[in-house]
Amino acid sequence: MSAQISTKRVTAADLLKMKRQDERIPVLTAYDASFAAVCDAAGIPAIIVGDSLGMVIQGHDSTLPVQLGDVAYHVAAVKRGCGRPLIIADMPFGTFQESKELAYRNAVQLMAAGAQMVKVEGGFEVLEATRFLVDRGIPVCGHVGLTPQHVNVLGGFKVQGRDPAARERLIEESVALAKAGAALLVLEAMPEEVGTAITQAIEIPTIGIGAGRHCDGQVLVLQDLLGISAGKPAKFVRNFMLGAASIQAAFEAFGQAVRDGSYPAPEHCY
Ligand code: KIV
Repeated sequence: MSAQISTKRVTAADLLKMKRQDERIPVLTAYDASFAAVCDAAGIPAIIVGDSLGMVIQGHDSTLPVQLGDVAYHVAAVKRGCGRPLIIADMPFGTFQESKELAYRNAVQLMAAGAQMVKVEGGFEVLEATRFLVDRGIPVCGHVGLTPQHVNVLGGFKVQGRDPAARERLIEESVALAKAGAALLVLEAMPEEVGTAITQAIEIPTIGIGAGRHCDGQVLVLQDLLGISAGKPAKFVRNFMLGAASIQAAFEAFGQAVRDGSYPAPEHCY
């Protein structure tokens, strides 16, 4: 297999420009060089090396067992496989919550492995670390709503922001993260109306996963898009392999559907 390497990597500034030009942003997770190369060939501008790898690659029932070294290993593989997509590395459970200094030391490892941005789950409690990383040259992607690292506190993988207080808190946390310097914000599993309100309230791009049709971009876990995840798929998942002639064609169909607004459809929204 020869990886398709193009020369110029997408930056956070490019994604911001896409939001300003009303151009939707398709994002996929990937964990290895082969799939990263197909993402690149399919024109996907950003890849998240998510701690979802704990579930879809390692077979755990949550993301909690994932270690920093696991993400660094997969980031390095993804980096070798693609030349153009922005690579966002997830900071695993326990690698950033304790102190901003710990967050910095661990984020440096992921940047050294090949990431151009790190992702941290959480709201008010990660503001200080977000500011600290950005001030030291590490772009940050926030992640609010259903934050899978909080699964044991949330009592399961549940839609967030359904009542007025929770809705307001999500909006306030998103605004605060953008003010703290986050360059991108993942919105996971919330009513469409909340995803829309957040997207309108902040200037940085929002990337939805179960957050409705009006986010600036959409992300899917690769295995969900391919229809090979274990168990019943979440409401927001669409299997893009159905009717596709190849994996690259499925990625292209996802990119096209995000760009033309046909994915997500009303049936994918909370
Ligand atoms: O872990 C992950 O893959 C993620 C994305 C789904 C956003 O957090």
